Amino acid sequence: MRKPFVAGNWKMNTDSHSSVELAEGIVSGSLEVAGKSVTVAICPPFVYLQAVVKAVGNSNVALGAQDIYFEGNGAFTGEISASMLKDSGCVYAICGHSERRHVIGETDELINKKVAAAIAGGLLPILCVGELLSERQASQTNDVVTRQLKEGLAGLSAEKVSAVTIAYEPVWAIGTGLTATPDQAQQVHELIRKLLSEMYDDELAQEIRIQYGGSAKPSNAAELMGQPDIDGLLVGGASLKTEDFLAIIKAAV
Ligand code: PGA
Repeated sequence: MRKPFVAGNWKMNTDSHSSVELAEGIVSGSLEVAGKSVTVAICPPFVYLQAVVKAVGNSNVALGAQDIYFEGNGAFTGEISASMLKDSGCVYAICGHSERRHVIGETDELINKKVAAAIAGGLLPILCVGELLSERQASQTNDVVTRQLKEGLAGLSAEKVSAVTIAYEPVWAIGTGLTATPDQAQQVHELIRKLLSEMYDDELAQEIRIQYGGSAKPSNAAELMGQPDIDGLLVGGASLKTEDFLAIIKAAV
């Protein structure tokens, strides 16, 4: 049985005060609504990781980074390495979020290096995949997701891939209020699991958690997570409101 995994991606939001307040609210509420039955992570902006890690303490809420760089150290202005993230208390690192792919211009090749560096540095990557609206309309969803998954995990052994969570996030559903229907999401999640089984083996494919992301909210969380291959949610906007995020965690139980 895969344990449900709900992660909050705060993106470029909060400040030094509100990040700690939000984390404290989630820490105290999540145990109450879900006990230890749901894996919970929050991904604040880099600059607030150290403040938030104190608020998280040794609770069951894990810390994640929104991005990572693949080099260990050196002249890479503005970048953050796996060892720095680990040193700051991170357990997870989001790799290849659609905003990094489509706003910043990250390629599958770069994202693959990030996933590999995260694993090598002892972090658990959350690899994001998902199609643009134009790609869905051109019936290219399966091709795009297949390419992003295969290239994102290229060269990684089954043992390494067991550290990875996949997040299916259709770009047209992110921050738009448009959510994929549970059926639409399930179809892609099923495809991802089938691909993992072909690339590795069925046992591994059954173990790996696949989150859905894209306008997830309290009102649609239970139905989405009720699908057989949807193992949790990567939540943007709704993770910035303690009450909404806790309601989503509760829906995962
Ligand atoms: P959203 O973002 O929930 O605000 O749509 C999800 C994400 O980008 O991870």
